[in-house]
Amino acid sequence: MEAMHPDVDRVLFSKEDIADMVKRMGAQISKDYEGKDLVLIAVLRGAVVFMGDLMRAIDCPLAIDFMAVSSYGDGAKSSGIVRIVKDLDIDIKGRDVLIVEDILDSGLTLKYLMKNLSSRHPASLEVATFLWKDVEGRTTAIDPKYVGTHCPDEFVVGYGLDFAERYRNLPYVGVLKPEVYA
Ligand code: XMP
Ligand code: MG
Repeated sequence: MEAMHPDVDRVLFSKEDIADMVKRMGAQISKDYEGKDLVLIAVLRGAVVFMGDLMRAIDCPLAIDFMAVSSYGDGAKSSGIVRIVKDLDIDIKGRDVLIVEDILDSGLTLKYLMKNLSSRHPASLEVATFLWKDVEGRTTAIDPKYVGTHCPDEFVVGYGLDFAERYRNLPYVGVLKPEVYA
């Protein structure tokens, strides 16, 4: 296992764990989208690392595009009020769209995005999320078709996920020490 960053309390998913999950998701997506017109849409910036790995684990033809939304402000809680900061460059009408997300928490961000994207009439619209945060007594606003793994209700960083734009480059997913964001 790689050396741990001093701000990280513990590693949840190692580089090797992540590689296995991505491989499994890529194989399933390749099977499901064979012969289809797949477009992967990643939500900037957190999903960039996952997107880079996932697209290489899929062996059917595909296109990629990116969207940037802002909903978090200072990085603590989702409001569900989303502003599109960067829209798609391509037209998704009639295409098979798969949204690629780093982490699904309340799902409010994705719920908004799915509503927005479905108004553009894709042939299909699904979600692949690397992490799905389990929160007791709460239902998530959306139901992702592909999930890398569930993760506990703690603030996680690495593999694209940040705190105040830091830690995105960690090759593993870890729990941030509370004193770092307190
Ligand atoms: P919702 O609640 O709308 O939020 O599903 C999803 C977005 O919230 C961010 N998020 C996190 N980012 N560590 C992070 O680095 C976390 O533990 C975390 N939880 C939520 C993330 O940007 C995601 O797209
Ligand atoms: Mg973020």
